[in-house]
Amino acid sequence: MASLHIENVTKNFGSVKAIDNLSLTVEGPELIALLGPSGCGKTTLLRMIAGFIDATSGIIRIGERDVTKVPPNQRNTGMIFQSYALFPHMTVGENVGFGLEMRKIAKEERRKLVKEALSLVHLDGYEDRYPKQMSGGQRQRVAIARALVIRPDVFLLDEPLSNLDAVLRQSVGNEIRALQQRLGLTSVFVTHDQKEALMLADRLVVMKAGRIMQSGSGAEVYNRPNSRFVASFLGKSNFFTGHCNGGGHFNTTSHLQLHCPKPANGTADYTLLSVRPESIRLGPEASSFDNSFEGKVERVTYLGSLTEVELRLTAEDLITVQLQNRPGQTFSAETGANVVAGWSSDSTHLIADTETAVPA
Ligand SMILES: Nc1ncnc2c1ncn2[C@@H]1O[C@H](COP(=O)(O)OP(=O)(O)O)[C@@H](O)[C@H]1O
Ligand SMILES: [Mg+2]
Repeated sequence: MASLHIENVTKNFGSVKAIDNLSLTVEGPELIALLGPSGCGKTTLLRMIAGFIDATSGIIRIGERDVTKVPPNQRNTGMIFQSYALFPHMTVGENVGFGLEMRKIAKEERRKLVKEALSLVHLDGYEDRYPKQMSGGQRQRVAIARALVIRPDVFLLDEPLSNLDAVLRQSVGNEIRALQQRLGLTSVFVTHDQKEALMLADRLVVMKAGRIMQSGSGAEVYNRPNSRFVASFLGKSNFFTGHCNGGGHFNTTSHLQLHCPKPANGTADYTLLSVRPESIRLGPEASSFDNSFEGKVERVTYLGSLTEVELRLTAEDLITVQLQNRPGQTFSAETGANVVAGWSSDSTHLIADTETAVPA
């Protein structure tokens, strides 16, 4: 169980700055999810940790050891990929044993370790099969066994569930999490899927354009996003632009006066206020909240467990409301109807959005 330290790492591909002076520490046996849109540098960072790509500058340490210049096969990392990347002409046993053979482990010992690794992923007795004789979920479990058989110090996973259907994604995801916890593996799990990240990780690290925007537990990042980018990448948010007067009021540019919590940092310039769609109520019960406004229904979408309503408060403010559907409690209103929306100041969140100029 080693810790992983990334210190001021930058990676340039020609003029593209894929990773921009990024620092991150992962303590064993933590599983962190690197979360961010396509192209933000997740794979590049993971490949630098594994040693497949050299950092342009900065230092990578595993435990006390500086591995920045160490070749991949001497870093003791185990990596799995979206595409499984199994060798098609090798049996499952040979695939799983490959890393051991590279490490010159004797045949008998190899056989024993391969058997144990296959057992970990519930594929006992599959040694002689070929990858093409197996389903997607089974192949990904072979890849997991191959990564873990060497007892890696750091376990790296690059969107390992993306090629699986929804049911398998859940079960292979749970299996990865259970193994990671049982073996106490320091792990970095890359994904662009917020649900996956929330389901699996001890800590979320949200990236954008080669930089870390925010890092914290799922609840911290969801409830206290530090930027518009994070708030809208993780779930949906309603945003109001304007100004906080410091005393629990937020005046929007559209001339609404909203109640909000007193800012923790009284001197910060809070120019955004966010409210999650599930925090807003509609109809008679909405009037009792300290924020309560009449709006016009623009769209109602039934989504099974919830109903989503778009409500226009002002020319500038179109809010999304999510209502939980319960038997006998499905929201019904016609487009064009006037409805009261309400939410408590406690469910609003102030953002000192230094980033508003940058399109997310
Ligand atoms: N080998 C490469 N050569 C040139 N540019 C690359 C290379 N690999 C990645 N990039 C660029 O680096 C950025 C980050 O890519 P990547 O790490 O694959 O992002 P992600 O995994 O988050 O989708 C992108 O702009 C991508 O086009
Ligand atoms: Mg990628």
